[in-house]
Amino acid sequence: MHKKYYTLIINRYNYKVIFLVGGLVKSDNKSSKSQKHSNKIVNNEKSNTKESKAIVLQSIGYPFSFHLMESPKLEILDKSLFEHYAREQWVGTIAKEGSYLFDQKILPDFGFKILKAYPNNSMIGETTSIVLVDENEKIKQEVKVDNSNLRINDVIGQDEAKNKCKVIMEYLKSPEKFGQWAPRNILFYGLPGTGKTMLAKSLANELEVPLYLVKATTLIGDHVGDGAGKIHELFEAALKTVPSVIFIDEIDAIGLHREFQSLRGDVSEVVNALLTEMDGIKDNEGVVTIAATNNPQQLDYAIRSRFEDEFEFKIPDENERKLMLKQFIETMPCKVKVSVEELAKISEGMSGRDIKEKLLKSALHKALYEEKKEISMIHFNQAIKNFKSSKNNPPKGMFN
Ligand SMILES: Nc1ncnc2c1ncn2[C@@H]1O[C@H](COP(=O)(O)OP(=O)(O)OP(=O)(O)O)[C@@H](O)[C@H]1O
Ligand SMILES: [Mg+2]
Repeated sequence: MHKKYYTLIINRYNYKVIFLVGGLVKSDNKSSKSQKHSNKIVNNEKSNTKESKAIVLQSIGYPFSFHLMESPKLEILDKSLFEHYAREQWVGTIAKEGSYLFDQKILPDFGFKILKAYPNNSMIGETTSIVLVDENEKIKQEVKVDNSNLRINDVIGQDEAKNKCKVIMEYLKSPEKFGQWAPRNILFYGLPGTGKTMLAKSLANELEVPLYLVKATTLIGDHVGDGAGKIHELFEAALKTVPSVIFIDEIDAIGLHREFQSLRGDVSEVVNALLTEMDGIKDNEGVVTIAATNNPQQLDYAIRSRFEDEFEFKIPDENERKLMLKQFIETMPCKVKVSVEELAKISEGMSGRDIKEKLLKSALHKALYEEKKEISMIHFNQAIKNFKSSKNNPPKGMFN
């Protein structure tokens, strides 16, 4: 036991010497590193590996402990200095989510877990952002939609909004090219079920940077002050992992027009917090905010005016309905006896969600209930009838 302790002390001492020398003779430092890291890749492989945009680390501590040595707690005093320090030793290392990086300098073998890598399995390079989160801090709001393979082109129609998403993707690949022309705040609005959330989810799948997808109602807390705090947390998390995208779904729940604010005591404070955070993000800082709503008229004017572009999501036309029907029918567990053309005609005025839920699903369930092997026009007609009668008796909204 004594012997082991002695060796470790020597090791620590040696590392300190290596660190000091390493600061002066950089190449030595690098060669000792490459022997240590099994996930470090050799030069000829580098060209096939993308450079990481950002990695998020959590400090884990030593892989072992021995008494007499206190387990150190890391506190980063200067974030950008820490980034330089970390990059210097890990550049060229493959960042794989769930794997570990070890400090080789001041706290030899002190471990860091890679919580996130954008993209995963990319290589740490000279421009990679390296973010260390506090031990118990989670990047709560972030949702990467991994369980679906949705792509932007799966969203039918809504071309203007899709094109803007492609511009955002270009921007996030090389923010430095855009300068003051960077996209910043974009509003999606339109009738329910027209693909706003679907587009956000598909964008999340296409992006190689974090997307913070939040429903505005989850930003309202139980107590006065909670809402403002949560909004601040959200923007702070996004700023820590730039470049990144914030998507606030159903923003009307928090960004209410002044006229409605008196109805909800905490709302004006939340509106102000949102304005402060949106203004706090400077041009080209690498955070793009997208918000979606059914009711742009109910949005606070100051908030609405912060969006440089507004895109209306429209009810699909006949051709778009045909494409949707084709896409949806392919995955149905029962044969459809009616042509896509005919179904596109009878579904005029329906949104994508209506077509899926109110027409196809409802007809399918009717056919299954009747133990039929095929869905026929009778089932679709019944579904359309129910849809029309429910449209004539809409549920009461929040303010009417
Ligand atoms: N343009 C579209 N292309 C393909 N599918 C669509 C489209 N619009 C809607 N859908 C289908 O309807 C579902 C619901 O759409 P989504 O949740 O994106 O609507 P939304 O605009 O966000 O509605 P809300 O305003 O009620 O939140 C989608 O998951 C998809 O299956
Ligand atoms: Mg939605």
